Amino acid sequence: MFETLPAPKMDGIIALMQAYAEDPRADKIDLGVGVYRDAQGRTPVMRAVKAAEARILAEQDSKSYLSLAGDAAFLNAMEGLLLGGAVPSARVAAVGTPGGTSAVRQICDLVAKVRPGTTVWVSAQTWPNHGPLIAAAGLQARPYRYLDADAGALDRDGMFADLGAAQPGEVVLLHGCCHNPTGVDLSPQDWAEVAALLESTGATPFVDMAYQGFGEGLDADAGGLRHLAARLPEVLIAASCSKNFGLYRDRVGIAMAVVPENNRASLATSLAGLSRQSFAFPPDHGGRVVSTILGDPLLRAQWQEELDEMRSRVQTNRRALADALRAATGSDRMGSVAAQQGMFSILPLSEAQVTQLREEHGIYMLWDGRVNMAGLDPSRAGDVARAVAQVMRSA
Ligand code: LMR
Repeated sequence: MFETLPAPKMDGIIALMQAYAEDPRADKIDLGVGVYRDAQGRTPVMRAVKAAEARILAEQDSKSYLSLAGDAAFLNAMEGLLLGGAVPSARVAAVGTPGGTSAVRQICDLVAKVRPGTTVWVSAQTWPNHGPLIAAAGLQARPYRYLDADAGALDRDGMFADLGAAQPGEVVLLHGCCHNPTGVDLSPQDWAEVAALLESTGATPFVDMAYQGFGEGLDADAGGLRHLAARLPEVLIAASCSKNFGLYRDRVGIAMAVVPENNRASLATSLAGLSRQSFAFPPDHGGRVVSTILGDPLLRAQWQEELDEMRSRVQTNRRALADALRAATGSDRMGSVAAQQGMFSILPLSEAQVTQLREEHGIYMLWDGRVNMAGLDPSRAGDVARAVAQVMRSA
């Protein structure tokens, strides 16, 4: 039966992870997949997570099914973390999902139920899996301009001009913070203008929040989302706890719809129905770790401290790479990486140059020049910068 199965296309990020794992060179450098690494190059289990897990191990007395939406304590804690009381809970419908990826898919499936085939506006540079997830739900991704590559900053005019064409019933996907892959975020003023634009066009925002706490801080990073939720009738949200709780492989995410109060119950039932059709009940362990941490003032403070450490380390890595690139190239062309936010930035490299970096220097990054700043060992920043300068010269 599978003779006619089309040749599978491997996800680029996953293929890169595999290629890196198979590379025998001892001095290889992984700037590919978005995971945080500490000074020892490890992605450790956070101390607050360990403490919460110990508590769960000691206290949990059943692993029987919960509701399709998952643990209510997790849903409430995440509502607080994301929305910070910007809207009443009576407007919020949510379900736990296996990671942020499933949350994105679930929201797309939800949209497809009422607007099959509708357009989802996506920043021209985006997480490589957004397009396939949108297409899998039968929706159409349409790009809006986002990055001014020369300035390493937001192409504000381009973005607002493109989004001005969004129609009611269409969806606008926005990165809540730490834009993946550009590291270029909207300012509070930009968010206010986006809200006004969406209000006038009638298109619905869909905020993907995968890096809350890695930009400026937990509340500042959610400021744009909260502004949209307070101002607009409907906001769709997909969030992940992979990075900010370091729970990558435990798969902890949430799909959320902020809607007028009288629509809440039907949204909650629809989201739960979608869960039933794919994974039924969301995984519980990671979500319980999150609600245990967020519900305990001491654990919460410890987690925030660890998250602050991670954020500040990424900022240090950014400065180290920006300085090294300046020294190696004799130009400030890539200086904007120091000011960008979150795990990623894009270096102005062609795919051929990216391949050359991988083959000749053992430096792994995404085909579009995306580098994971959170994975950089700052003591290797000079090696990376010299190799980048060399492939740029030889182009
Ligand atoms: C990334 O962009 O590298 C991460 O979000 C990991 C993933 O699932 O792609």
